[in-house]
Amino acid sequence: MKNLISLNKYFWKYRLRLGLGVIFIFLSNLFAVMSPEVVRYAIDYTISQVKFASLLNGFALSGSFGSTLTKSIVAFSVIIFAFALLRGLFLFFMRQTLIVMSRHIEFDQKNELYNHYQQLDQSFYKENNTGDLMSRITEDVSRVRNYTGPAIMYIINTVILFFMVAYTMYRVNGELTLYALAPLPVLAVCIFFVNSIIERRSEAIQSQLSALTTAAQETYSGIRVIKAYVQEQMAEKYFNDESIEYKKRQLKLARVESFFFPTIFMLVGFSTLSVVFVGGSKVMNGQITPGNIAEFFMYINMLTWPIASMGWVMALIQRASASQKRLDEFLSIQTKIINPNTNKHLIKGGVEFHNVSFTYTNTGITALNNISFNLKVGEKMAVIGRTGAGKTTIANLFTRVFDVSEGSILLDGIDIRSINLHELREQVGVVPQDVLLFSDTVTNNISFGNDVVDEKLAVEFATRASVDEEILRLQHGYDTMVGERGVMLSGGQKQRISIARALIKNPSVLVLDDCLSAVDARTEHKILEQFNEVLKEKTAIVITHRIFTLIQFNKIIVLDKGKIAEEGTHDQLLSRKGLYYQLFELQQSEEKN
Ligand SMILES: Nc1ncnc2c1ncn2[C@@H]1O[C@H](COP(=O)(O)OP(=O)(O)O)[C@@H](O)[C@H]1O
Ligand SMILES: [Mg+2]
Repeated sequence: MKNLISLNKYFWKYRLRLGLGVIFIFLSNLFAVMSPEVVRYAIDYTISQVKFASLLNGFALSGSFGSTLTKSIVAFSVIIFAFALLRGLFLFFMRQTLIVMSRHIEFDQKNELYNHYQQLDQSFYKENNTGDLMSRITEDVSRVRNYTGPAIMYIINTVILFFMVAYTMYRVNGELTLYALAPLPVLAVCIFFVNSIIERRSEAIQSQLSALTTAAQETYSGIRVIKAYVQEQMAEKYFNDESIEYKKRQLKLARVESFFFPTIFMLVGFSTLSVVFVGGSKVMNGQITPGNIAEFFMYINMLTWPIASMGWVMALIQRASASQKRLDEFLSIQTKIINPNTNKHLIKGGVEFHNVSFTYTNTGITALNNISFNLKVGEKMAVIGRTGAGKTTIANLFTRVFDVSEGSILLDGIDIRSINLHELREQVGVVPQDVLLFSDTVTNNISFGNDVVDEKLAVEFATRASVDEEILRLQHGYDTMVGERGVMLSGGQKQRISIARALIKNPSVLVLDDCLSAVDARTEHKILEQFNEVLKEKTAIVITHRIFTLIQFNKIIVLDKGKIAEEGTHDQLLSRKGLYYQLFELQQSEEKN
């Protein structure tokens, strides 16, 4: 329960609504409690009038007497109706304040979580899967809302109603009140237990449902493979097994639920019975009137549901508490990548790696080992190496996706850890190896890093990335929606759009991570020719597993298992006849074939 304390800041924020809500609950209950009194008064009045009439037993009188009685009954009905209307009105206001408050809190909480997610660094996303993150921001938040909305509302309502009713009943007769109310706590406890069983079984159903959904999803997405290997029957059996388990769990739940209502009705029956029995004898003694009995029945009815629902409310609170705990866990995770300041900072483009080592903490793999190099403003460097050599890690360190484990990275002689993170990421462009396009138009994808979308500019940079012609051939040209993650485009097209996206930001340092791996040789040729022009004034680091002879690199480093194996210019490296030479030879012979 203590986890829910962290929600108090929201209650404080919406204290006005909360306060109003409590007032409305009070008013609605006031009218609810008043109407049984009117009923009692009406019954007692009618009985006394009828007795009076039978005493008189005069025909002449009874006619006009009858019509007065009818008039009074109509008057009582109108009052009761008016009370019901007023009660309804305040119930409406109650929901409009309290439930609306909970929606506001839900909104705030979602935003808080989302903002927090955005601040967290890559290592967090490596450790937590997307499904889990999604379920926290949707399911857990909505479970917490069940506490801030319905649970709070029902609790306040039940407490207020209980005291008002108990007080009114007590004023009529203390002893009878005890008899009438005694079964209700038992009712609440019973319901609490039954409810916890229901909860447990519902949870089991929920988890089975997700297993079932996963089974179905896998079949749909893998349908091509399933059909190709003629495994339909296997898939069907797999789904069927999950389905049978689901049905079993549903039936188990149905069994408890069928106990639920009879139990409630039985306990309410006890209450009613004791009122009839004890109340009846009191009427005969003349301690109370028949109207009082009717009044008591109404009170018992009024209290039944609120008290019965307490078991359910307790379950809501328990769930909310568990969810809030999960949310708090997330919110307490702090990013390791800290923005040092918010100062303006202009990066010119001098780059230095100074004895940089990097170890992935989750796997313990040392991806970079004592790497040092130095680039002046406007120089170009190629990083070449096999898969797993540590090339992508270098790219990630530039924009502080991760921070170096040892050593330092300097831009214009300043450690990147002391540069405003936003300025750093604005001015260092990285074209990542695995391209991610958003499900949006081509233009918007290219303009992603810019605050305003400029169509002309998008076309210009698409041309520089040699993808303009292909975009124009798409169905709607630059307005074509690229589909989820860019499924409508080929790998090579995505890569070049991603290059255009990095270029349009006009970064002073550009890191291209294997960004031509999916384009054919002819296109590669075209782009590289452009690159000499595009990269002219920028410091550029071109990461690749192929050797590009079309670009004049000031320096080439060959990475092997996280270390610099060789370094120099193209000619120097060739004459060394080492790793670079072998790679080059291999590439030449492949190209000939
Ligand atoms: N997120 C990660 N967590 C743990 N280990 C990683 C991660 N990314 C890469 N590695 C490991 O670091 C090494 C270098 O990877 P990477 O820099 O991607 O190489 P390259 O880009 O040259 O193929 C590899 O051994 C890889 O398994
Ligand atoms: Mg890589």
